[in-house]
Amino acid sequence: MKTEKKLSQKEQKALVGKAVIDRLFERGLIKSGMKIGLGTGSTAIIAVEHLASYIRDGKLSDVKAVATSFQTHITCEENGIPVYTLNSKEIAGKLDLSIDGADEIDPDNNLIKGGGAAHVQEKIVEYNTKRLVIIADESKLVPHLGTKFPLPVEIIPASRGPVVREMEKLGASCILRSCAGKDGPVVTDNGNQILDCTWQALPDGSSPVNPAKMEDRVNKITGVVENGFFTKNKPLVFIAHADGTVEER
Ligand code: A5P
Repeated sequence: MKTEKKLSQKEQKALVGKAVIDRLFERGLIKSGMKIGLGTGSTAIIAVEHLASYIRDGKLSDVKAVATSFQTHITCEENGIPVYTLNSKEIAGKLDLSIDGADEIDPDNNLIKGGGAAHVQEKIVEYNTKRLVIIADESKLVPHLGTKFPLPVEIIPASRGPVVREMEKLGASCILRSCAGKDGPVVTDNGNQILDCTWQALPDGSSPVNPAKMEDRVNKITGVVENGFFTKNKPLVFIAHADGTVEER
């Protein structure tokens, strides 16, 4: 529904985090008994909390979740959502649905993820799910990927020098991500480090990067665990706009 007042980014995240659960439930795309992957970040956490309210109210039962980070796991514990690993016999390596946020979304619904350093577990979960749903505020829509929000690349710490050299050969500039609550680099939930990699835009403003090809190419570098391009499981995307509407594409 359109609103007179312009919604802030925080309000848009709250709007889409709730709307996604309401709409998927109305359409029978979230059902009791489903195995659901739950994403990381401020938008995904709103959806997790709203999903929990459906379970508390008895509208959904026997939901089995796989969390993509410590943040999500803790939120599930606090809200009474049962969490399993992808390897458990209950999940058996395959999910019905996953819901997550994104850092950037291009017109073909290719994504950059990993602003919260959770993209490795997110990709494991989301590439093993039948239906991927991405939720975001409108600031995440971009014409192309790779030149503004940096591509997060999770690396084995001992490989940092060689990986930086290889990424530079691919035209990227890399920065080792620093931690806000600790001196030194971010250490991921998997005990690794993050390189944030950016390409310079072409003279016409477009990107020199083909996200699908670069996703594969970066993962060939020895020492790279996974990168934040998500191109292989095309999502349904819900976008909240400042005018109070939620667009689906
Ligand atoms: C986590 O590593 C990311 O992939 C998040 O999904 C992404 O950073 C979106 O975060 P917000 O919803 O907090 O903007």
